[in-house]
Amino acid sequence: MANRRDFLAKAGAAGGALAAAALGVEAAEPAAAGTSGTCKVLLINGSPHEKGCTYTALSVVAEELERAGVKAEIIHAGSGPAFDCAACGYCHRSGTGKCVFKDDACNDIIEKARDAQGFVFGSPVYYGHPSGRLMGLMDRLSVAAGGLLTGKPAAAVASSRRAGSLATLDVIQKHFTINQMPIVSSFYWNEVHGNAPEEVLKDEEGLAIMRQLGANLARAVKAFAALPPAEKLPRATTNFIR
Ligand SMILES: Cc1cc2nc3c(=O)[nH]c(=O)nc-3n(C[C@H](O)[C@H](O)[C@H](O)COP(=O)(O)O)c2cc1C
Repeated sequence: MANRRDFLAKAGAAGGALAAAALGVEAAEPAAAGTSGTCKVLLINGSPHEKGCTYTALSVVAEELERAGVKAEIIHAGSGPAFDCAACGYCHRSGTGKCVFKDDACNDIIEKARDAQGFVFGSPVYYGHPSGRLMGLMDRLSVAAGGLLTGKPAAAVASSRRAGSLATLDVIQKHFTINQMPIVSSFYWNEVHGNAPEEVLKDEEGLAIMRQLGANLARAVKAFAALPPAEKLPRATTNFIR
């Protein structure tokens, strides 16, 4: 199992921007600043169900974003086999900045992330945590192209039958904090409840949370897109070895 140091060595690019970005050392690219004039948010559905409960919640957020003049695109992570990061270093070694696994939405998201100013990652709750599908995708996205996320507002959304949403949101949000992404919230935690889309549509409070989240996210992406990227200060990677 490769540790971070092995990973850098394998990547053969200890000084390279991509390797640095993947390891959270430095952003590969400055955050896009909304140069097109219109902001765009990518909403990633981490459920195997393309049009299930998570999608239903994300659709409400997307609707509100669009109403506020922000483009919204929902991307399905996929329904087939899901992949964890293999720590193979392909994304750096190849110079593509893409993941070696091509069977889910990871590389599509990487391509679109450059022109996006905000992100929503949604997941069903599986045994009190996000789907392995979404976690694998987010790990690979952060490793291959974390710099494309840096500085851009993000929100997590969880859909559950009953319990586990808060832990799920916490886990998703860890990717936001290591990638310097401002976290956007609503008037309650970003959760809906149901086992089927029809049930989610009856969750009045959940839907209202999603609407407010969309409105707050629209404001955040517009505000951050108008700002210059944060100053990059010198960093060190010590692995606690002195
Ligand atoms: C493997 C698995 C584990 C689940 N674990 C939980 C759980 O811990 N808590 C819960 O409330 N619901 C749990 N559920 C139910 C889903 O979270 C819930 O139906 C969700 O809204 C489905 O979203 P989707 O339609 O987008 O896939 C589980 C479902 C599956 C398939």
